Amino acid sequence: MSIEARALCKAWDGKLAVDHVSFVVAAGEVYGLIGPNGAGKTTTQRMLAGLLAPGAGQALVAGIDISADPVRGKRELGFHTGTAGLYERLTVRELLRYYGELAGMTAREVAARTEELASTLHFEKLLERRCGKLSTGERQRVSLARASLHDPLALILDEPTAGLDVLASRFVADYIRAARDRGTAVLFSTHYMTEAELLCDRIGLIHDGRLLDEGPPAELRGEEDSLEAAFLARVGAVEAEGEEQPGAADRFGADSDSETKEEPS
Ligand SMILES: Nc1ncnc2c1ncn2[C@@H]1O[C@H](COP(=O)(O)OP(=O)(O)O)[C@@H](O)[C@H]1O
Ligand SMILES: [Mg+2]
Repeated sequence: MSIEARALCKAWDGKLAVDHVSFVVAAGEVYGLIGPNGAGKTTTQRMLAGLLAPGAGQALVAGIDISADPVRGKRELGFHTGTAGLYERLTVRELLRYYGELAGMTAREVAARTEELASTLHFEKLLERRCGKLSTGERQRVSLARASLHDPLALILDEPTAGLDVLASRFVADYIRAARDRGTAVLFSTHYMTEAELLCDRIGLIHDGRLLDEGPPAELRGEEDSLEAAFLARVGAVEAEGEEQPGAADRFGADSDSETKEEPS
């Protein structure tokens, strides 16, 4: 039990963007949060990473309530988001050394981990290059390395393969599997269903802020030809069930949009 969402809720402008979402990602498990744009994936992950206060519910990392004890919680956590910047003027090696020191690692530990991650994510040739000169895909991979440099118990990756070509996506998949094999609990989001099917031990289907279903990919697919077909069938069934109750947003965190600051980057 290394990442846990307990009835997490968050409302924006009176509408629930995350509506009682609950799931557990175990140590050594890859859990994919899958859903279309606007489903609530990023909002859920930011609450779990302690970057956004939940409107209601609890976000736990390694058993620690991240709102109640953010310092201890964040020590056990690596978080990646595509929008985070890198210090443009540092080389990749300098950047990783800087974050390693912040995390309390020794120079030797940082060096060893840098080699390991550069090899998995194939950026050995970029180590002496300034971050400002990297392409989108290269930045993405360096940012992923930064997130797991300190070998956290829990890893939350928001759309780690967005905008990457097939080769870079393959490296990211290798990186996720390597983290899992170290015993890390990995939560990642994507809207690429095929990728999720191949990579995840379990998947949570999220739509309109609600977790519609969860389970191993084969189980979710059921009789359908693909996960995508299964997802569309679920969404269709939910929409046919009827409308949401009015007023729900008022009851769950509509007034608390207090945001904690993003980490410096
Ligand atoms: N800071 C914000 N202020 C207002 N609305 C937001 C904010 N962040 C997200 N939303 C809204 O919440 C919903 C879920 O967004 P998000 O969690 O980013 O979805 P996803 O990551 O699945 O694409 C969307 O309708 C989005 O417009
Ligand atoms: Mg998102």
